[in-house]
Amino acid sequence: MTKTERRLRSQDWFDNPDHADLTALYLERFMNYGTTPEELRAGKPIIGIAQSGSDLNPCNRHHLDLAKRVRDGIRDAGGIPIEFPTHTLFENCKRPTAALDRNLAYLGLVELLYGYPFDGVVLTTGCDKTTPSALMAAATVDLPAIVLSGGPMLDGWHEGELVGSGTVIWRSRRKYAAGEITRDEFLETALDSAPSIGHCNTMGTASTMNAIAEALGMSLTGCAAIPAAYRARGQMAYRTGRRAVELVHEDIRPSNILTREAFLNAIKLNAAIGGSTNAQPHIMAMAKHAGVALDPSDWQTHGYDIPLLANIQPAGKYLGERFHRAGGVPAILWELLQAGQLNGDCPTVTGRNMAENLQGCESTDREVIYRFEEPMMERAGFYVLSGNLFDFAILKTSVISPEFRERYLSKPGREGIFEGKAFVFDGSEDYHARINDPALEIDEFSILIIRGAGPLGWPGSAEVVNMQPPDHLLKRGITSLPTIGDGRQSGTSDSPSILNASPESAAGGGLAWLRTGDTVRIDLNTGRCDMLVDEDELAARKAGDLPPIPEAATPWQKLYRETVTQMADGATIRDAEQFRQLAKKVPRH
Ligand code: FES
Ligand code: MG
Repeated sequence: MTKTERRLRSQDWFDNPDHADLTALYLERFMNYGTTPEELRAGKPIIGIAQSGSDLNPCNRHHLDLAKRVRDGIRDAGGIPIEFPTHTLFENCKRPTAALDRNLAYLGLVELLYGYPFDGVVLTTGCDKTTPSALMAAATVDLPAIVLSGGPMLDGWHEGELVGSGTVIWRSRRKYAAGEITRDEFLETALDSAPSIGHCNTMGTASTMNAIAEALGMSLTGCAAIPAAYRARGQMAYRTGRRAVELVHEDIRPSNILTREAFLNAIKLNAAIGGSTNAQPHIMAMAKHAGVALDPSDWQTHGYDIPLLANIQPAGKYLGERFHRAGGVPAILWELLQAGQLNGDCPTVTGRNMAENLQGCESTDREVIYRFEEPMMERAGFYVLSGNLFDFAILKTSVISPEFRERYLSKPGREGIFEGKAFVFDGSEDYHARINDPALEIDEFSILIIRGAGPLGWPGSAEVVNMQPPDHLLKRGITSLPTIGDGRQSGTSDSPSILNASPESAAGGGLAWLRTGDTVRIDLNTGRCDMLVDEDELAARKAGDLPPIPEAATPWQKLYRETVTQMADGATIRDAEQFRQLAKKVPRH
């Protein structure tokens, strides 16, 4: 590695010949944790460690320890580490939803990276939205940046069976409602699913988004899947710190890596791992901030035909530890590369291209990572739908069970077509209040609809579309009904919902005009999803008011609603993408 000849960005703060007074001011405050004025003025790269861990985010909390290894790596490579906190994004506890805060964390990180003397940054990621918010900011600022995933928890076991985070909750709540388990058993199983530090051990949104960061080329090879508690995780932290310094010397930036080809690789990877439906808005958002044109239809065009290769919950059987030992993300990418489905020319933070990174990464555990030619399931990507209920929504095909397909999609002569009576709920409170009301007469051929759950409506877009059937159906073994909504669902859910519907009801989308009792037709042959309501009736309904949504409860909720785009476009801050490559400019004093 050669030392940088060009002047570093940070030198404008710490070694500015035109402003001796300011340099003195900047220098004196950074002395209190072991660095020196000489060091700061020596042209050593200053590497930020964007710390996403805290007591408020248990999934990322071990980054507080990993950061020490990152610091060692940065120092050993001749850089200076400066660690700072990012806005907490803890998926499970933030009300009304952590999704409201993704753009807030993005904004905060952009200001920090742009306004302080950084030459590069290590992005610590883990829990769902910590990854996309960090990469969105890195794309906007365009400083040399590298992702350090925190890694999943160890595999969870309960009474000899694998229990995975989130997924076990969705499964247990059905058993609980059907009277098969007690409340205590429900809680015990949930606790057993979380045996160590780390993020969710299923292929939920956390594992998905970290896998995507790796597929984009933004982390070192193999980074995503190493369990949080493994020795290798600390070594990865050290190597990531070292590499961050080299990225500055080599001037490798997100804009060199985050290309359209890289995003298409990520879309394909997401299908092959049976990844979270939340990948859709997050990938759209990252692409938007990177200035990459991605169309909502790209999910269908490039992702749908990719088979399911990873046997991991919720689409499969195993959890993160076994997935890692089977080869993790590189082994999946290797399969895609051999099959001609991955662009191997994409540059990555390793300094080598994707194909070079993947040499020798073939899996040896074929129970967990299937061959492309003999997959777990064909065509496992997201199916994109449109119609008079919405312009865009997705369906995760890898979680459509054989029973579901048989019951709803296999009528002779009408394969792939389902028509049912709609039951419309305005938000999850309404759903919970009424789902077991016998007067509704919901049967196994009903369609459950939830609205008011999108970015504007909730606000923030909530993971509520995976509505479970009423108890009387669960007791008969009907574990899922067709569901449609303008919200999201947890990445750990195994529900075949039609979700992320855009425009949402609160933005005047078709769901706003649907009524309980209407017939809805889903046609998976044509990708249409429509309410069968005649034109005049529909026009009359549209003359009325939109379903009510709650008032903004905080200043940010108000600002969020004023600025947010729809899920199809990533629910980003409107027009934020006009601010790009901020690191090229040095802010005024
Ligand atoms: Fe944080 Fe799942 S709740 S990773
Ligand atoms: Mg979630």
